[in-house]
Amino acid sequence: MKITVIGSGYVGLVTGTCLAEMGNQVCCLDVDPAKIAILRQGGIPIYEPGLDEMVKRNVAAGRLSFTTDVAESVAFGDIQFIAVGTPPDEDGSADLQYVLAAARNIAEHMDDYKVVVDKSTVPVGTADKVRDTIAATLARRGADIPFSVVSNPEFLKEGAAIEDFMKPDRVVVGAEDERAIDVMRRLYSPFQRNHDRILFMDVRSAELTKYAANAMLATRISFMNELANLAETLGADIELVRRGIGSDPRIGYHFLYPGAGYGGSCFPKDVKALVSIGKENGHPLRVLAAVEAANDAQKLRLVDKVVARFGEDLSGRRFTIWGLAFKPNTDDMREASSRVIIRELVRRGASVAAFDPVASHEASRVLEDVAGVDFAEDMMDALDGADALLIVTEWKQFRSPDFEQIRARLKAPVIIDGRNMYDPAWVRGLGFDYLAIGR
Ligand SMILES: NC(=O)c1ccc[n+]([C@@H]2O[C@H](COP(=O)([O-])OP(=O)(O)OC[C@H]3O[C@@H](n4cnc5c(N)ncnc54)[C@H](O)[C@@H]3O)[C@@H](O)[C@H]2O)c1
Repeated sequence: MKITVIGSGYVGLVTGTCLAEMGNQVCCLDVDPAKIAILRQGGIPIYEPGLDEMVKRNVAAGRLSFTTDVAESVAFGDIQFIAVGTPPDEDGSADLQYVLAAARNIAEHMDDYKVVVDKSTVPVGTADKVRDTIAATLARRGADIPFSVVSNPEFLKEGAAIEDFMKPDRVVVGAEDERAIDVMRRLYSPFQRNHDRILFMDVRSAELTKYAANAMLATRISFMNELANLAETLGADIELVRRGIGSDPRIGYHFLYPGAGYGGSCFPKDVKALVSIGKENGHPLRVLAAVEAANDAQKLRLVDKVVARFGEDLSGRRFTIWGLAFKPNTDDMREASSRVIIRELVRRGASVAAFDPVASHEASRVLEDVAGVDFAEDMMDALDGADALLIVTEWKQFRSPDFEQIRARLKAPVIIDGRNMYDPAWVRGLGFDYLAIGR
């Protein structure tokens, strides 16, 4: 099949590459010429395990190409995926300007039937707006060309995006005409050879499913974070409580990890957007509003612990941060807890030595305006002379570090662990003052 993917970011690039891997012809478009230049030179503008080789393989096979030329990209694909960003507007609602610009571009240049697929996470009713935008543009052109609009939200996780796309738990397709349903069924049939994973539904239900999924996951995290904070006061260990409830199959173990708050490009913005959708439609989503407020507070939980230990004024103090990306296996710094933590430490007068296996470059960009932050190349070098080590992202290489060396290089043996990586008794036995979340 011939496919165009509009927007070559985390979702667009993975979608395009995985579809090419299955033998389709794919053209990826982006408005950012720097991104397309990197891709054309054989590079990858993001960090995503396994993506690099898959892109190279499919480019070499002639199945995957990149362009900034809208006319060329529209002419290319019978299926046009829209995978552009949908950032929050000032009121928290999803900003649809990029989605609608992509729809206008398609309508401006199309000259035969297209299936236009919303892959971006968009509020209920967006497919109607995309349809109206395309119809209005075609009418202005005096062109009578058929098209279908489909909702196909994406559930991939950064850091495991290829695995998620190639072996999806489910593929949600909101489509209401037979021609589009047939195209989508053929497109996804290679991804479900062992059993049917496509859930066909109406467009509005598909749009809402994506927000509902992220909102549920965010709710589990905020719930556990609040319980963890209570457990600290009560003298209970949240990790034992987590196991105690996770073993109930009605609850399950996933997404019950307390920590330093959720971040990333999806949960914060999607929770905000769903809260805003509820408000607009006269159904305030009170649980979700609390999920967001709890998360905002949790992002500062590590700083609260620093302040409790070192005082309100942190002038002259230095702290090491291990882990900057919003989660392991990505360089994505969007809404990362580390950003809030570092800004607050610096605001209180401290300096920071930060280490992340892949996100330092992106972190230095988003923290450009913050003075007093150094980025170390080596996790141990970041410790020298610091008053405490703060762990913000649970990269594997932090799981079993050389504690002797940590103690020798820190000014004082203090670890404030925002991801509950270690056994408290063990680390305390090594002579550390060890503060975790909910333990
Ligand atoms: N990142 C994730 O893990 C994830 C997972 C599921 C769903 N989503 C959703 O997918 C969408 C995209 O997310 P992302 O993380 O890939 O964003 P991103 O910012 O990484 O990528 C978006 C890309 O679109 C490009 N773009 C913007 N307007 C364009 C236009 N008119 N034509 C061509 N290109 C254009 C941008 O330059 C950018 O490269 C969002 O709605 C997001 O909520 C993201």
